[in-house]
Amino acid sequence: MKPKIFVTRQIPKPAMDLLFLHFDVEFNKEDRVLTKKEIVKGVKGKDALLCLLTDSIDAEVLDAEPNLKMVSNYAVGFNNVDVKAATHHGILVTNTPGVLTDATADFAFTLLLAAARRVGEAERFVRKGKFKGWGPLHFLGQSTEDATLGIFGLGRIGREVARRAAQGFEMKILYHDVQRVPDFEKEFGAKFVDKETLLRESDFVSLHVPLNPNTHHLIGEKEFKLMKPTAVLVNTSRGPVVDEKALAQALQEKRIFAAGLDVYEREPVIEKALLKLENVVLAPHIASATVKSRTDMGLLAVNNLVSAFNGIAPDCLVNRKVLAKSRMKVT
Ligand code: DGY
Repeated sequence: MKPKIFVTRQIPKPAMDLLFLHFDVEFNKEDRVLTKKEIVKGVKGKDALLCLLTDSIDAEVLDAEPNLKMVSNYAVGFNNVDVKAATHHGILVTNTPGVLTDATADFAFTLLLAAARRVGEAERFVRKGKFKGWGPLHFLGQSTEDATLGIFGLGRIGREVARRAAQGFEMKILYHDVQRVPDFEKEFGAKFVDKETLLRESDFVSLHVPLNPNTHHLIGEKEFKLMKPTAVLVNTSRGPVVDEKALAQALQEKRIFAAGLDVYEREPVIEKALLKLENVVLAPHIASATVKSRTDMGLLAVNNLVSAFNGIAPDCLVNRKVLAKSRMKVT
């Protein structure tokens, strides 16, 4: 008998095919986020759950099925899963790191350039029929020449953004993280600085931290006051890392030049003031949205399940502590 899996939303076909090959699958056939009640109902009688970053997998879900052995999250970020409760219950939790690094780093750069060069605003201008010819003072933006990029969070994605900035644009790199990364400093001539120095000295600030209590509202009113009036903020990490109200105010008052956002504090709700502003580029959480990346995320999420149900601890296990008392035997 194949293990029973509940899937909260369809993922790319190659991953669904692989899932059907190895498991007895029940999945949400509609292209929408399920309610908590539907997820609770879905996990009943299942051995594992394959879920998305838009699903809140809290104690209520984890308590719903005493035999639930694993949660495979189709995302690198796993702030949507109560990992502590899962570990307590002996449930394995996995994520999908690595396979979306390039796509996300590319998109962080897309937002950086789009915000710096006012692409959204200029595009709206053209579509409204306002383009009457080239003008020397039209849509002047910020340059990457001799610029400094400040990176918060030097994981895989932060590092790839730095590579693009240093090797492609010859930018100077500053970074801040919970620890120094000497090989990174050597490779990119990057400098580790405190948060305040990074904010004061950077022309571009890009956020690549995971969301946790320490990074919630990492950037708020106080931080915007430190930034240059010409600075551009890019967020492809998680919305609540930025205080969205404070950001809207900073943009409104031109305390910073622009922002490029892929993620929002109360996703999919967006702070109303932001929607009215010209100096912010707003994307609908699509940094990893390439065919390759989303397919690879799916294959990895499924392969995490396959490994575990074959008794092998998946490489992408985020709660290693669970191995001492997990509901299924994996080594
Ligand atoms: C992730 O995997 O955490 C990303 O936000 C998906 O784009």
